[in-house]
Amino acid sequence: MKFFIDTANLSHIKEANDLGILDGVTTNPSLMAREGIQGKKAVMEHYAAICELVNGPISAEVLSDNSHDMLLEAEELAEIHENIVVKVPITLDGLKVIKNLSERRIATNCTLIFTAGQALLAAKAGATYVSPFLGRLDDVSAQGIVLVEHIRHIFDSYLYDTQILAASVRSSAHITQCASAGADVVTAPLEPIIGLIKHPLTTQGLEIFKKDSVHLK
Ligand code: G3P
Repeated sequence: MKFFIDTANLSHIKEANDLGILDGVTTNPSLMAREGIQGKKAVMEHYAAICELVNGPISAEVLSDNSHDMLLEAEELAEIHENIVVKVPITLDGLKVIKNLSERRIATNCTLIFTAGQALLAAKAGATYVSPFLGRLDDVSAQGIVLVEHIRHIFDSYLYDTQILAASVRSSAHITQCASAGADVVTAPLEPIIGLIKHPLTTQGLEIFKKDSVHLK
């Protein structure tokens, strides 16, 4: 399973990249706004800076809601760097954009996926990735991980190449559940990624070894 970091924060991206386990980055308009980025020029420069930090797919989301403007935006985003993946919401206009970009071999990430039907449409249109939002489904008493399993079953049954990019991941447990459910990629903030390494018995074991090693040096 590939690991992407879900943030626009450059120091978090660098920290995860330095661990040697990072395969890519996802962003969205909320994450960009959280970094205080304002205006198109600053947005484009920020994506370029992320592409300089990480050698892997970098999702950059379109902001328009009609297919004409989305396509213009997508072309500009794709120009920034060859690793840019154009992130497009699952709407009727978005579907047309995904189809168009897929025919031109521009990578896409279809976002805001909450049902298997939406994922199926995105795959049929040729999306490179679909992003089911686990945490937001959990927030409304559904089970996000069940959606990942459902999409996995459909994609495997019909041999779709589209990769399942599990998003809206809120915990370290979510990450391992995604691995069990067959997600191709998980994208998470830095904290749940780093949380995977933590266990009180590891901490305790290290303390014991440290204490016992005093006379060994
Ligand atoms: O990649 C989508 C993700 O950023 C959404 O996460 O926590 O806002 O539901 P969240």
